Amino acid sequence: MSQDTTHSTPAPAAAGQAAMPGADGPAFNLIRPQPYADWAPQVDAATAAGLRQQLEQGAVLYFPNLHFRFEPGEERFLDSRWSDGKSKNINLRASDHAVRGAQGGEQDLKDLYRLIRRYAESSEKLVLSLFPEYGPHLVRAGTSLRPSEIAGRPVSWRKDDTRLHVDAFPSNPLLGQRLLRVFHNIDPQAPRVWRVGEPFGDFARRFVPQTKGMWPGQARLMELLHITKRRRSEYDHRMLQLHDLAKADLAYQANVPQQEFQFPPGATWMVFSDQVLHAAMRGRAMMEQTYYLSPKAIGDHTHSPEAVLSRMLGRPMLAS
Ligand code: SIN
Ligand code: FE
Repeated sequence: MSQDTTHSTPAPAAAGQAAMPGADGPAFNLIRPQPYADWAPQVDAATAAGLRQQLEQGAVLYFPNLHFRFEPGEERFLDSRWSDGKSKNINLRASDHAVRGAQGGEQDLKDLYRLIRRYAESSEKLVLSLFPEYGPHLVRAGTSLRPSEIAGRPVSWRKDDTRLHVDAFPSNPLLGQRLLRVFHNIDPQAPRVWRVGEPFGDFARRFVPQTKGMWPGQARLMELLHITKRRRSEYDHRMLQLHDLAKADLAYQANVPQQEFQFPPGATWMVFSDQVLHAAMRGRAMMEQTYYLSPKAIGDHTHSPEAVLSRMLGRPMLAS
């Protein structure tokens, strides 16, 4: 496993990393390895400020030594048979006391809950230890265990996360709340293979001209018909189109400047997934925690999606 991929300019493929064909821009490396092995690391203020800046600029904070340990018997959950077949992930909502999307006996479901809850708590310790100033603005959203191989899954192009995209949800408008995610490769053998792509600003410049605003009354109607859980903002509307435009464009998928990275077993990584173009190519078992973060918490808005879109379109994206 390569731990030291920080200063690889210009990067000859280090272990775990490969330059992609078709990348006509300069080689880049968005993966920032961190040494911490504790979910509540002691980090001095200057280091934490630097990490925060990198995260907000669109880097992937990568913790190769930050392992999440199974308790005896929990390894049995590394198997897709625990999914209920309808949903590919087993999910825990922050306020729930039982998982969703799972099947098994009463004790199994309780054990699954304990496992996923423990991951939620570990990842929250990590975020709050590194970025205590995010605390008052952070909302714990879903936690998931994804125990199925992602390669070769039959899904529609829109749901195909092996295509580069930024996260945006059709029915769950975020109204500018940021999406911060902490991932962990819980598979003991196989790496989780990702691609990450060009900075959000470049991506937006390419596709925003093809996006449209909403027609009058559209947001209200979608809310009324329960197509959306709350009223969609123009921000959400444009982000969703950006998500779709990127996934639908196979030439873009092949040619955009990008890097592949293999997160080894036991690795943890953190990213603003509404900002960083990402795709998950291969991997068998992952845990993931999502947070909503108020844009108020962001120190540097230069690269945040709402700020980029507002600048490009010449008006705020959150006014309804
Ligand atoms: C995604 O967020 O697009 C999928 C991440 C993964 O499954 O590794
Ligand atoms: Fe995604």
